[in-house]
Amino acid sequence: MEKRVISTDIMEEDYKIENSLRPKLLSDYIGQTKAKENLKIFIEAAKARGESLDHVLLYGPPGLGKTTLAGIIANEMGVNLKITSGPAIEKPGEIASILNNLQDGDLLFVDEIHRLNRQVEEVLYPAMEDFVIDIVIGKGASARSIRLDLPRFTLVGATTRAGMLTAPLRDRFGVVNKLEFYSEEELTTIVKRSASVFKVEIDERGAIEIARRSRGTPRLANRLLKRVRDFAQVKYDGKITLEVANFALDLLEVDKYGLDNTDRGILITMIEKFAGGPVGLETLAASIGEDSGTIEDVYEPYLIQNGFIARTPRGRVVTDRAYGHLGLDINK
Ligand code: ADE
Repeated sequence: MEKRVISTDIMEEDYKIENSLRPKLLSDYIGQTKAKENLKIFIEAAKARGESLDHVLLYGPPGLGKTTLAGIIANEMGVNLKITSGPAIEKPGEIASILNNLQDGDLLFVDEIHRLNRQVEEVLYPAMEDFVIDIVIGKGASARSIRLDLPRFTLVGATTRAGMLTAPLRDRFGVVNKLEFYSEEELTTIVKRSASVFKVEIDERGAIEIARRSRGTPRLANRLLKRVRDFAQVKYDGKITLEVANFALDLLEVDKYGLDNTDRGILITMIEKFAGGPVGLETLAASIGEDSGTIEDVYEPYLIQNGFIARTPRGRVVTDRAYGHLGLDINK
């Protein structure tokens, strides 16, 4: 049987793996200027008042730094960080226990918070609003509810889809920040910073090339950097240059716009099977054998942002730019 992830410790293990690359301070965090400036003020104000920070919701496509920001907030506030995720908490008792074990000021990070089930969510409402939970003891006629006081904690929720949060949950976040894709310049800086953490030599043009092909996403930039480093080490003299980056990224089938095989598969399917669209999300998902939620959260935002796909009331359509990029004739 597959093991259920209910322990927050297991999530923390995942967190530690990427940890060496994560900045620890807001001033070391590159990009997301708006979110950063907001958080800086709220953190400073809460600290000056000696209070915990209001609950924070971070939303946007995966890999843009939501977990990293949660870690930075905890660090800047000087509090503990507990990490869990929506799908990992199945029962109201599990969230009650996590909340009850927090210490004053602790930051609880709930990744994929849109995937919490209803009963679990309902425990969160009074916890977030009044720092209490109601626990039912006993069964049937003798059942009674007791109220437990919780420490003043900060909930940081992350989601790829703010639209999927229920209104009562969304309304309980005092601070809401949308994370945006990173610019090529920002990603270049991140790639150079990560290369120095890895102690691998990289030149400007090599860093730019990795940045350009990272679909605006630091997690991908760091992943590609690691793969390019392997090629540099085995096939070249260890230094990452434009030539090494091009060689490695071409072999990894990441193209000049950072599109991978799935991205290109989506565009080609839309063109070849649906005459460029409009096509509905579910139909498209079924025909390429991907989950519709994954297309919507992971693939589509970048394709839309970069003008390869457009959304219309009747479904998705491919743009002229996509035909051009794939070298296909629009009239065929
Ligand atoms: N590593 C991953 N994301 C980062 C960011 N936004 N700033 C600095 N380093 C990072």
